[in-house]
Amino acid sequence: MNSQDLLKLAVTVAEEAAALIVERRRGTITVADTKSTITDVVTAVDRESEELIRARVLQARPDDSFLGEEGDDVVGTSGVRWVVDPIDGTVNYLYDHPTYAVSIAVEVDGTTVAGVVVDAPKGEVFTATLGGGAFLDGKPIRSSDCSELAKALVGTGFGYDPVRRQVQAEVISHLIAKVRDIRRIGVGAIDLCYVACGRLDAVYERGLNPWDYGAGALIASEAGAKVGGMHGEPVSPEMSIAAAPELFGPFHDLLAGADPLRA
Ligand code: IPD
Ligand code: CA
Ligand code: CA
Repeated sequence: MNSQDLLKLAVTVAEEAAALIVERRRGTITVADTKSTITDVVTAVDRESEELIRARVLQARPDDSFLGEEGDDVVGTSGVRWVVDPIDGTVNYLYDHPTYAVSIAVEVDGTTVAGVVVDAPKGEVFTATLGGGAFLDGKPIRSSDCSELAKALVGTGFGYDPVRRQVQAEVISHLIAKVRDIRRIGVGAIDLCYVACGRLDAVYERGLNPWDYGAGALIASEAGAKVGGMHGEPVSPEMSIAAAPELFGPFHDLLAGADPLRA
């Protein structure tokens, strides 16, 4: 199966999961459990969405591996791995803020070759394949041409650990007077897609997981953004940065000056 076929399956499944979570949002949403801290919540719908995605994917491709945020990992034999956030933006979902997403990345031998992020309430579908460009609702998208820090609209997010959040706030205080403004949308995958389509000029976050950035990082880079970590490292849970290509260097250096990896 080539990356276009993998993307097609990913989109079908992500759209079905997006429809499910929007439908469930009409009812009452309550916290089913907490994870790393009391603010790191999971709802029954996070689990239901992941179970749906897992069932659909493994029904179609029983030999693949599966890494989802909420359930046990499945280790397959095909070399293809599905990396899934069944609801990215669970706190938005809980409070009915109308931005939350289903994110599915497909890796072949460890390289992400296809990704889809569906903004469920808006119905926007961001997609990319490796080397095949990035799209919003089927139309090609490009990152912005912003090259000046002072004009950059920057997105970021905060982890759930209070010690790390304190440092993340200090990092923002180092940036805020040097950029146009800061956005905290609450959905790491959407942050990356917004860089891809020019709704943000840069994003960064410490502590995102592969299910948060897998699809969005491919979409951003296929849209022409530069994507990476600190000091030439690739994107990882340590740091993910995506920015308009000429902005990446100055933005990285500004961020580095705030010592963001200290907690
Ligand atoms: C969170 C969101 C948020 C980011 C957090 C993530 P979740 O994912 O992507 O924007 O700041 O770091 O954990 O918990 O809603 O799937
Ligand atoms: Ca997430
Ligand atoms: Ca999630």
